Amino acid sequence: MSKKVKVGIIGLGFMGTTHLDIYKANDKAEVVAIADVNPDKLAGDISSVFANIGGGDNSISLDLSAMALYEDGMDLINDTNIDLVDICLPTHLHRKYAVAALEAGKHLMLEKPMGRTSEDAKAIADAAAKSDKCFTVGMCVRAWPEYRYVYEQLKSGSYGEVKNAFFKRFSPTMEGKSWNDWFSKEEFSGGALLDLHLHDIDQIVSLFGRPTAVTSNVSKAVRSDSAVDHVFTFYDFEDSKMVVSEGGWSATDNSPFEMSFQLVCEKATVIFSPAGLKEYYEDGTVEEVDLSGCPGPTGWHVELDNLLDAIQKGIPADKYLTPAEALDGICIAEAEQKSIDNNGEKIIIEYKEMR
Ligand SMILES: NC(=O)c1ccc[n+]([C@@H]2O[C@H](COP(=O)([O-])OP(=O)(O)OC[C@H]3O[C@@H](n4cnc5c(N)ncnc54)[C@H](O)[C@@H]3O)[C@@H](O)[C@H]2O)c1
Repeated sequence: MSKKVKVGIIGLGFMGTTHLDIYKANDKAEVVAIADVNPDKLAGDISSVFANIGGGDNSISLDLSAMALYEDGMDLINDTNIDLVDICLPTHLHRKYAVAALEAGKHLMLEKPMGRTSEDAKAIADAAAKSDKCFTVGMCVRAWPEYRYVYEQLKSGSYGEVKNAFFKRFSPTMEGKSWNDWFSKEEFSGGALLDLHLHDIDQIVSLFGRPTAVTSNVSKAVRSDSAVDHVFTFYDFEDSKMVVSEGGWSATDNSPFEMSFQLVCEKATVIFSPAGLKEYYEDGTVEEVDLSGCPGPTGWHVELDNLLDAIQKGIPADKYLTPAEALDGICIAEAEQKSIDNNGEKIIIEYKEMR
């Protein structure tokens, strides 16, 4: 059996604890270090961690005694025992730690968004291009079973050409549910537009390639003063397909989280909703898709397993996502923000190319 990948996680919040759980259950990995500015977290107290979907039990105390513990993430990056640095920090910190990890010669798992701005994301992509190590960004929906299944069906041609598509990501408010409430602060998170809705932007890139322009509008600041917390966007493509998405965390705290989509294609209509994934074919057949044989159970498990596998085999970790695609998503989000700032004007997307 290949040597276990030695992992160090920076940021033990919702995603850091989620990743820790997943690594513990994966025999390709061994988590050997944790860094967090909060000493309570390093003492194993994760009671302040909030989860929106799939979260584990946060009332338990973690036993981290076998791991190296750091308050400064740079010390973890410089720990020579670590092969893979996994960055689960608030978004405005991604560039500083991601570039340092790549320059230190580590493999890197970076939570999404790749950067707070396209400039940050490009600096990270450029550092990744200079590195010979494995790198991926946590655009986990690409590896989420329902989304990956539909991606594969579309690419195989079994649905025919897509005529129109709608994607939705709907979350209760995130106010007060993160370290220093960073999700509510636009300069740290980019609001729901960059944080939550980015997953559907990325799906659109994954399924259809680069849109040329966006037209966005917003249900203005329902729960926070400044950040975009609920956005509606039309995407233009070179062909005539119509693509629309909605994403936001403006809903009341007791609302259910929902991720869903519908694709109207030549040969079938495909709907993923809280009722499951269903295909409605032209000939009248309705298929309830059984995903039990697909990699899972979540996209988080699949993306991390793919990264560990790539590290062990010495191959690129780009099965689900390339750094260039992760950068494209941020450029599209910025065009959507510009459209909102210009009262719904259509904005031609300015893509940044990697070095
Ligand atoms: N892929 C997904 O589905 C998904 C879901 C949620 C969040 N995320 C992303 O994961 C990242 C982290 O989000 P979260 O929900 O875990 O946030 P969080 O607030 O729950 O956790 C952040 C952690 O970072 C620590 N921290 C803050 N500054 C630090 C520093 N300078 N050095 C070391 N530790 C520091 C905090 O103490 C906290 O433990 C974000 O980029 C977010 O967008 C991804």
